[in-house]
Parts: sequence; C-alpha cells; structure tokens
Amino acid sequence: PAFRSVRGRVLTFLAPPQGAGDEASYRYFVDGLVVVRDGRIAAVGEAAPLLATLPPGTPVDHYPDALILPGFIDPHIHFPQTQVIASYGTQLLEWLEKYTFVEEQRFADPAHAAEQAVFFFDELARNGTTTALAFCSVHPVSVDAYFAEAERRGMGMLGGKVMMDRNAPPALTDTAQRGYDETKALIVRWHGRGRQRVAITPRFAITSTAGQLAAAGALRREHPDLLVQTHLSENCAEIETVRRLFPEADGYLDVYDRFGLTGERSLFGHCIHLTEAERRRMAETGSVAVFCPTSNLFIGSGLFDMRKAVSETPAMRVAVATDVGGGTSFSMLRTLAEGYKVQQLLGYNWSALEAFYLATAGNAAALGLAGEIGTLEPGAFADLVVLDARATPVMANRMARIDGDLEAELFVLMTLGDDRAVRATYAAGRLVHARS
Ligand code: GUN
Ligand code: FE
Repeated sequence: PAFRSVRGRVLTFLAPPQGAGDEASYRYFVDGLVVVRDGRIAAVGEAAPLLATLPPGTPVDHYPDALILPGFIDPHIHFPQTQVIASYGTQLLEWLEKYTFVEEQRFADPAHAAEQAVFFFDELARNGTTTALAFCSVHPVSVDAYFAEAERRGMGMLGGKVMMDRNAPPALTDTAQRGYDETKALIVRWHGRGRQRVAITPRFAITSTAGQLAAAGALRREHPDLLVQTHLSENCAEIETVRRLFPEADGYLDVYDRFGLTGERSLFGHCIHLTEAERRRMAETGSVAVFCPTSNLFIGSGLFDMRKAVSETPAMRVAVATDVGGGTSFSMLRTLAEGYKVQQLLGYNWSALEAFYLATAGNAAALGLAGEIGTLEPGAFADLVVLDARATPVMANRMARIDGDLEAELFVLMTLGDDRAVRATYAAGRLVHARS
C-alpha cells in the first residue's frame, strides 16, 4: 500500500505547555496537511500551499472535521497481560501471584504468544497508539512474537524479556546468567532491526536477586543506548518487602541506583510513594517516572502527584502510560481522563494541553525518541492518529457548545473519548486502523 499524506485539522506540540492557554507550546493548522514521503513526514503546514507542491496523483486522505495528532505513545504496558485486565479483588502482590504470574506462564507457548500479539497490536492501533514500550514475559519467544508482529505492521516498538530469578513460580524464573544471556541474544536478534528496540527489563526488585540486578547493570554498561524499564514504589507492602530484601540499601530507588540502573534512559513505572529525597535523586539522575493512572486506581496503589513532580527543582521527568493489564484500558484517552481525576483529587488542574503533550511528544522524549516520534515536524516517522471529538452522542452534543475552541475539544476528547473517537491510525505513513 502506498504512503498517504493526511489532511485535516493538524496539531503538534513544540514544547511542554506551561498550563492551559499556552499557545506558544503548539502549532495548529485548521486546514492542515501532513506530507508523507517514504514513511516519514516531509512537510507540515497549511494545506493549500503544500497541496500545490505535491506531484499529481499523490494520495491524500482528507478528514475535514477531525484532529490529526502524532500517534499516541504508551511507555509502560505488559504484552502478556491482555487477558488479566479486570481481575477482581486484589492489590499488587496478591494480584501478581493470583492472576498475572498464572497468565504469563502461557507465553512459553509460541503459538499462544503469536495469537495474543495479533490481538495486542490490533488494540493498540484501534486506540491510536503507534509506539509502546512493553514488558514481555520471561520467555524470549514472547519477545519474538511481539517484535515480529510489530514488524509485520510497520510499527516501531520497544520491549524486553522480563528478568526474574526469585519470588515467582519456577516456570516463570530465569537465573542471573540466563536473564543476561537471553537479553543479549534478543539484542542481537531485534535491537535496531528496522524500528524495533530492545529494553533491559528487570521486573522489579522483589523478583530479582542482587546477582540479577548486577547482570542488568552489566547489560546497561555494555549497551548504554538501550532503555531500562522496571517498577518502583507502587504499593506500600511492595516497598516494605524491598526494604526487607535489600536492608543495606537506602530505600527502594537506591536498590536500582546501586546497580547502575538509574539514569536518563531509565523508566520507572508508578513512583507513587517516593520520598522527597528519592524524587530529588530521580531528577538528578534524569530518570523518568511513569504515571499509570488507571492501574494505580484499579489495583488501589495510590495517587501519583504530578504537580510535585514537575514543580520541584530540579523537576522530575515524567511520562504517562496505560500499564495494561494492571491498567484497565488500552486507550490513552481513557488514561488521560483518569490522570486528570487523580490530579483533581490532589488539587491540581492538569490541562488538556499538558496531557496531550505528554501522551505524544513528552512520552517520546521519555523514550529518548524526541524528533523521531511524537511530533509532526519534518523528519519524524509519519505515525499519526486521527481523532473525532463527535464520536458519540454525548461528545457531539457537548461539542455543539464549544465549537472552535481547541483546548475545550481536547478536554472533551480525553474526558469522554475512547477507541470510538479514533477515526484512523497511521504507522510510518501507512493506514493500520480505520474505524468502520
Ligand atoms: N510490579 C511488578 N510487576 C508488575 C506488573 O506486572 N504490574 C504492575 N502494575 N506492577 C508490577
Ligand atoms: Fe507495570
């Protein structure tokens, strides 16, 4: 299929918005065009002058009323947990044992992993997510299934094999050496193959021995361009357990810090209960805290304080993600809605501009991919989402009152929108989802 240029109302962020009304933070074209060449964005701007420059016969998909944004980016999600979503009645440690560790064992089977990969990428595309950073299971075959399906669809994905060598069922554990060797082999197979990127993925401090965290640190030193992803300070019982397992460390973050696992290419899921000193250390090392609102609410973990994160000096880097299947939706719109409500409970009015910035350019920066994805500026991959703020009767009825107000429209999209608001999704200039 040919690359498509896309016309409609085009919005792309230039800088982090400083709150509602920050018009300098974005570019918006009411009749805009994203010109796509060889899967990348060749130009963006007003449609009329750009159309005149296109060779005759260039395919253009026109969405007159829709809003065209960079595709959403989900920087913390679990590939093997799609069938765990909506598991009843537990908090983190019991949830892992009772549901998650049971489910993830099924990903030893390559046929199951391949079948679930098709479902997983269908859901991402249906929800307008064009790049994700995922935890796969402990089995390298789960990572192979994940990247093979991403490659088939032309989507640029990041992910890694979970490393776990204790406190999990025997069928789900590796060893320090095996976790290291299998991650090395995956790097050779997948890292930098097309758009795919491998991440070093120790699950969390409870399921790795000191020996395994040291092995993860060795991988980081040997591959400084790779991301590290793990979990941090999500749940109070978890934090207590980490304290017991690593009595020599000065708190949970220090466990990772000691093994060289903090830094600008490290993403830590949750970070809800960090101490002030830990937030400062996160900021000093350039580490990223990933806010996972639907998961934090659903598993009952707590409220992540965005205002503290961004207003402290130095500011902590943040991202926002679904954390499916602790999270309850693949939709970044649903995720932003719950994020807004969490900040409301903490007395902070998280603006739609800040929220959509984070879901696109902000998450791209968190992944070290600013300029490559999360933006519509020339040179970036043509990963796009086409959004319809009139997708449901309630949305359409609300929009009738605020027509022409971009920020109000974005707020309607994030508060009321879900997969129905996604008209189309493009990955590297090719249509990967169109709403029927
Ligand atoms: N901490 C360690 N593993 C997990 C996981 O799979 N989900 C969540 N939410 N937290 C975790
Ligand atoms: Fe998670």
